Formats: sequence, structure tokens, C-alpha cells
Amino acid sequence: MKNIDSKSHVRGESVYLDDIPLVEGTLFACVFDSPVAHGKLKSVDTTEAQTSEGVFRVITAKDLIGENQIGGIVPDEPLLADGEVHFQGMPIVIVVVTSETLAHKAAKKITADIEPLEVVTDPRVAAADGDLIVPPKKFVLGDAASAFANCAHVFEGKTEQNGQEHLYIETQGAYAVPTENGGLKVYSSTQGPTAVQRAVCRVTGLAMHQVEVDVQRLGGGFGGKEDQANAWAGICAVATQLTKRPVKYALHRMEDMRMTGKRHPYSSDYKIGLDRDLKIVAYEATFYQNAGASCDLSPPVLERTLFHCTNSYYIPNVTATAYSCRTNLPPNTAFRGFGGPQGMFVIESAIAHAAEKLNVAASEIQRRNLIDDGDEFPYGQKAESDAITSWTQAEEKYDFATLQKEAVEFNASSRYFKKGVAMMPVCFGISFTKTPMNQARSLVHVYTDGSVAVSTGAVEMGQGVNTKMAQVAARMFGLEIDSVKVHTTNTLRIANTSPTAASAAADLNGKATQLACETIRKRLLEVALPLVEAANIDDLSLADGFVYRSGERTSLAWAPLVMEAHLKRVNLSEHSHYATPGIGFDWSIAKGHPFAYHVYGTAVVGVTVDCLRGRYEVDYVKCCHDFGTSMNTAVDLGQIEGGIVQGLGWMTMEEVVYDDDGKLRSNALSTYKVPDIYSIPAEIAVLPLETTRENMAIFNSKAVGEPPLMYGIGAYFAIRNAVKAYSDCSPAFDLPFTPEKVLMNLYNSDLVDMKAINS
Ligand code: MTE
Ligand code: HPA
Ligand code: MOS
Repeated sequence: MKNIDSKSHVRGESVYLDDIPLVEGTLFACVFDSPVAHGKLKSVDTTEAQTSEGVFRVITAKDLIGENQIGGIVPDEPLLADGEVHFQGMPIVIVVVTSETLAHKAAKKITADIEPLEVVTDPRVAAADGDLIVPPKKFVLGDAASAFANCAHVFEGKTEQNGQEHLYIETQGAYAVPTENGGLKVYSSTQGPTAVQRAVCRVTGLAMHQVEVDVQRLGGGFGGKEDQANAWAGICAVATQLTKRPVKYALHRMEDMRMTGKRHPYSSDYKIGLDRDLKIVAYEATFYQNAGASCDLSPPVLERTLFHCTNSYYIPNVTATAYSCRTNLPPNTAFRGFGGPQGMFVIESAIAHAAEKLNVAASEIQRRNLIDDGDEFPYGQKAESDAITSWTQAEEKYDFATLQKEAVEFNASSRYFKKGVAMMPVCFGISFTKTPMNQARSLVHVYTDGSVAVSTGAVEMGQGVNTKMAQVAARMFGLEIDSVKVHTTNTLRIANTSPTAASAAADLNGKATQLACETIRKRLLEVALPLVEAANIDDLSLADGFVYRSGERTSLAWAPLVMEAHLKRVNLSEHSHYATPGIGFDWSIAKGHPFAYHVYGTAVVGVTVDCLRGRYEVDYVKCCHDFGTSMNTAVDLGQIEGGIVQGLGWMTMEEVVYDDDGKLRSNALSTYKVPDIYSIPAEIAVLPLETTRENMAIFNSKAVGEPPLMYGIGAYFAIRNAVKAYSDCSPAFDLPFTPEKVLMNLYNSDLVDMKAINS
């Protein structure tokens, strides 16, 4: 089934924040943001801006009626800088102006006197200074320190991982409209309507019941709008509160790139110990997370790095420590995988390092250490593992041995082009690691004409969650999908939402929808009993728009049944709540059962490197992926393809560059390269994992949003293998592996002999 938005998307009719018709009198906000990364804010001069054309109001921190604070986990993030600036791009002043263009002009007229302070951009420097966002976190399984003593082989090294710009097509933005008695209605491009509601209430001093947040859909979020939509909604809300006028702010692309946080860069150390059979006996990892200037979501991201630090492997002795380091960069935030990919890259690097030194294929080490049923993750949960199955099915179906052999043969006969192949297993835990977040609500109305309206806490951001919600209701009522309309995500209809994140939105909101529909379905079947002369509702079912009795279609259709129920004064609406059962985590011992289930998969990644130019192409990403039983193969395939390409981008070309002054150099698409249509692998193959296992997903259809991104990690190792086939080098585990870096590795030690190359 197609995504229900596909037609309106293609016609350009889908409504995003910028398409909302504006209320008369709407003003436009723009911020003056810090030109320096760290300093004492001594004074701000807004006099010129005050008289700039169209300016209605200028707002600084002291004007706020509520609290100047939007930090959700740690209160370390003022909405507007006051006394100090922590990063380049930090909002200092809001101008509220009659047009968007004039707003930008007015903001440019503001100046600030800032006394520079030391700028830190390196997480290891921050850690050495003791500047941590929260105390370090640690996972321990077995006794790594003493296990290393008995290992046949021990290797140590370091990895550097880059950030990643979300580059959602729709930039951040919000639109606040005053409602009566000082209330507010806020339209926001957010993954977390309740997070926006809380932030708006905090900065305006309003109670939550006075603020309505409404989200139609996002033009992409990818984690970047889980927490970081709050600031722009807060800015519009404050401006509306102070001007009594509707205020809109949709960021310019360069503002968005400069002022918002990205995927966390990490610097990490690893130590891996193996026995003679290539079994990994001990693993030690230390992660230095570059959190940026304030906490944002850094602690749970850091935690997920630890949760996934052994990826799909069982390692009996593990010590993993993680530091969230405060630097003078924009606060880094959630990004597809939420720290998990960073943890996985480090163990994959350690394995590649060991393979290189032991002169075996990394896949040999990977395969021998895959986690099996009953094996314990470092956080205490026991695996119900499909790691081995997915590996074997990928290996066999795609004939990994032949792919490897072909690469070797190709490399033997090709002088300047080299092929590299790598396996990339993935194991990703599904559930918010913060247990209380694993709950959702759904409101279902059946109208007297038989049409169905569904509202949930899930936000549509291109991942197809609305399509899945409509499918759930349609399946429960035995209707066509056109009979179901999924409405905006709105805090008046659905309160206290968790953000649409952790790949869990379809599960959580789908299960709540299923519960609501089941309640209404039962009521309707009770009404149907006498009409179809049945004794028990268990004999009845709903399908194809009719009531079925003992599997036989009756003459009672859906719409007349609904009308009959209404005339009998039966409730045709239901609001249900779902909370994932059986999960929990105890941070005091760092053990528990945090995940409802894991998603497993294995990809084979193949590349060809042009060893003269350093350029490369990804020839294929072929994966065996665990969908459970997909409820929408078109949507899920889209998630796999999109995730893989986003992962490839992170590994190979997306280079977030800040200079030592904390200034973002890659601040536009001219300097920040993302995958385009030409960088998509020539082949993406997806083989659904064959498994009969039950799971806790909605209709057994497993979460799919984030896990595929991590298949992309295989590209780094495939490129590395190709580079090593050309020159006797050992490329650093340093992301992204841009063509420039490939070239520097290829011609690492010796001066390039141009004559030899040209011959
Ligand atoms: N797909 C699209 N098209 N756009 C997005 O913004 N976000 C990803 C993923 N897939 C995203 C996407 C992220 S980070 C998550 S957590 C999940 O979708 C969230 O949606 P789900 O819980 O419905 O899978
Ligand atoms: N994943 C994504 N977002 C989150 C999580 C998580 O585990 N925890 C809090 N926000
Ligand atoms: Mo996704 S990073 O959990 O929004």
C-alpha cells in the first residue's frame, strides 16, 4: 500500500508550516545570534534596529514574562543569551517585524559587545578540564581488565567520528497565534508537540492547558526536531505574548545550519582482546561525546552509545565508559540512531583493526562473535537473537564468498581501480531507553456516516506513520483505508505525548489505536448481534465493510450498523492509552530490560575506489533485514533505502567543519555535501529475514525508522578494504572517509611518483 500522502506530496498540496494560511496582522520574528562562540555578553545595542523599517518590537532576555530557560533535562539553555554566550549562533535578541525580509534586515542592525572567553571545540579538552554535562556513565559485564591478561591478542586504538547535519528539507519553524484570555495556539515543525508545549509554557509562564500545539506534518525531522523545535516555538510564543499579534518564524537554511545542533561527534578509545579462535573475550571502550554548549538530549544519546557499544556481538567481558563533554558548539542533539551508530562504529573499527593485524578477514571475526539466544548484552538484557540468522541468510542469498572472490580477482587485474567488500551486522534496541516515555494515546471517532477519524501522538515526518495508523484502524474495522482520516497531532486531542522518536512511534501509537478501535468494534458487534441473529460477538467479525457471521458475510453493512449504534446511544468514540509492558532499566546498577525487542539485520556493502583520484562509488548495499511481518512493505522499503543513504552520507561525504573559533565553516550546501541521486548505490537489495519469532510490535511489524542507517557504516570498512588493496597503508578510523582523505591515505608515506601513475 502506498503512503497516503503520496498524491498530495507529488501535487505539492501537502501542508507544511510554511503553507498554513496566515491570520491577518501576522508579524515575523528573526533573531540576532551570537557572532562568537564563547564570551561575556556585556551589552547589546538595539537602537538602530528599533527604528528599522517595519519593526514592531525588539525583545531581549529581560523582557521575558516566564523563565528564560528551555533546557529539558538540565536547565542550562536560556532561550535568549543573558550575561554569556556559549556558541556561535546562540539567539540573543528577537526582532518582531511586519515582513520576513524586513525582519532579517532589522536583525542585522543589532550589535553586541562581547568579551571573548576561551573557546573549546574538542571533547577531550573539555573532559580534561572536567567540563562534563552529566557525570560519566558506565556499563560493565564480566571483568574486562583481568580478561585482557589471558587474551592471545590485544589491540588498542582510537576513532574519530564526525557530526552530521540533519538537512531536513523543511527548516525549523513555528507560528504562534493568540487565543482568548491570553492563551496561545502554536503551529510547530516538531517531532515533540508536548515538548514544544512545555517549553512555550516555561518561557511565557502559561499553564499547559492554555497552550495548544498543532502539527500537520514535517518535511523531515531525523531527530533534529525532537528537542530543537522548542526554541523557535518559544521565540514565537514570547513574541506573541508581548505583541498580542500572531508571530511566525521559519528559519532560513543558513540560520538553521548555524544555530541548530547536529549528530554528536565522538572521539573514542578502544581495546579489544581475542583468543586463538578469534573469539572476542574482552572489550573496553571510552567515548568522548561532543555535546556542544548545553545538555539538550546528550545524556540519553550517550546512553544509547553504551547500549549499542557491542553491536550484534556477544562479548563476555565489557567495560564501556562514556563522557558527555561540554564544548562551545551549538548543542548537539538526536539524529537517526541516537548515539547507537557511534557506539557501533567503534566496535567495528576495533574488529577491523584486529583483522588487519591478524591477517584475517574482518568478517571472520564478526561471524564468530555474533550474539545468540540467551546471551547477555552488557546492560543485562538477554538476547532473543536473529543476528546469526540474518548473517547467514545475507551470506548465502548474496553469495558473500563469491562477492569477496570477485573483488580479489578484480583487484589482481586492475591497477588503479580497487574493489572493497564489508559485512555490516546491526542490532538495534526498540523502546525509548527512558522507560516512562514508552506510552502513547489514540483518539478514535466513528462518525454516523461510517467514516473514521484517528488522532494519535505520532508526528508524520515522511516516515509514513500516518499511513500505518490509518492501516491499523482500517484493519480493525474491516474498512478500506479511504474510510479513515488521520488528523493533525494536537495537544488538545492527545495530551502528554512522547516525541515521535526512537523508531517507536508506529508501535506505541499503533497499539493505542488498536486498543481504541477494539473497544469501539466490540460495542458495534454487540449492536449487531440481534440484527444478524447471532448469539455471541465472538462469532462475528468486520471485513470488507460488512459484518461477518461465522465467516459468512451478512447483509449488515458498516455504515448502517454505525447509525444503528448511534440511535441506540452507543458511544462511537474512544481514547485509549498504551504502555509497553515488561520493560525497565535500573541506572543505579546499569542493568535491566530496556527494550521491547531488537531489530536485527546484516548488510553486505561493496565499493569501487578510483585510486588515482581518491573517488569511489558504492556498488551495492545488500541486506537481510528483520521486518517481523511488515504491515507496509512500500513504506518500510522507503525507510530502508533512505536510512542506508543517510548512513552512507555520514560515513563518506558529510563533513561538519567548525574552525577553532567555533565558527561553522560548512554552513551551506556549497560547503556541506550530502548524498544526491548520483551517490545512491547502484544496487540496494533487501531480503526480508525469515523468522517465525513473535514480537511486541504493532501487528508483528517491527520498527524500521532508524536501524537501516547503520548498514551504511559498512561503506567505511569496504572503502578501507579497497584502499588497502592498493597501498600498504592502515587508514585511521577517522570519519567521514571523504575522497580527499582516501587520497591522502593512498599516498600516505611516499611522495607520489607521478611518472609511475601516468605510465
Ligand atoms: N523518515 C523520514 N522520511 N523522515 C524523517 O524525519 N526520521 C527518522 C525515521 N525515518 C525520519 C524518517 C527517525 S530519526 C526516527 S526516530 C523515525 O523515523 C521516527 O518515526 P517512527 O517512530 O514512526 O519510525
Ligand atoms: N531514542 C530516541 N529519542 C529518545 C530516546 C531514545 O532512546 N530517549 C529519549 N529520547
Ligand atoms: Mo529519531 S533520532 O529517535 O528522532
